Amino acid sequence: MNYTLLLKQLEEMLAPESYMISRMANMSAFLYEHMPNLNWVGFYIVRDGVLKVGPFQGKVACSDISFGKGVCGYTWQTGKTTVVDDVHQFDGHIACDSASQSEVVIPIFRDGEMIAELDVDSPFLARFSPEDVEFLEKCVEFI
Ligand code: SME
Repeated sequence: MNYTLLLKQLEEMLAPESYMISRMANMSAFLYEHMPNLNWVGFYIVRDGVLKVGPFQGKVACSDISFGKGVCGYTWQTGKTTVVDDVHQFDGHIACDSASQSEVVIPIFRDGEMIAELDVDSPFLARFSPEDVEFLEKCVEFI
């Protein structure tokens, strides 16, 4: 994957839009289109003390994920990117789509507080290489 080119295209595509929700919507569509072997890409937003599902691509997803629950809640707790090579080995994984086999969740901070997360799921085991994760971490900087 030419991630340098994709990051440039993503930045240009998002440039005219400053509203966070719209940027999330177009970013999820962009990533879903350009990264192969994914079944879900989207955002969770911290609201009313839980993670509410935000803009995404893929099947209908669960919402209202509590702090510490599932991969998303765990990432909220640690404040660090979580890469799961096999979701069936992750205690408490929330299976929204039974096709998911591996996933990466990246926290998004504003003024030192986690405000949202990017969640990317794949129907293949160990889909996400360190290079893929680094790319996704750069993508969320545009949010
Ligand atoms: N995988 C998440 C739940 C969200 S779905 O994957 C869209 C989790 O275990 O937190």
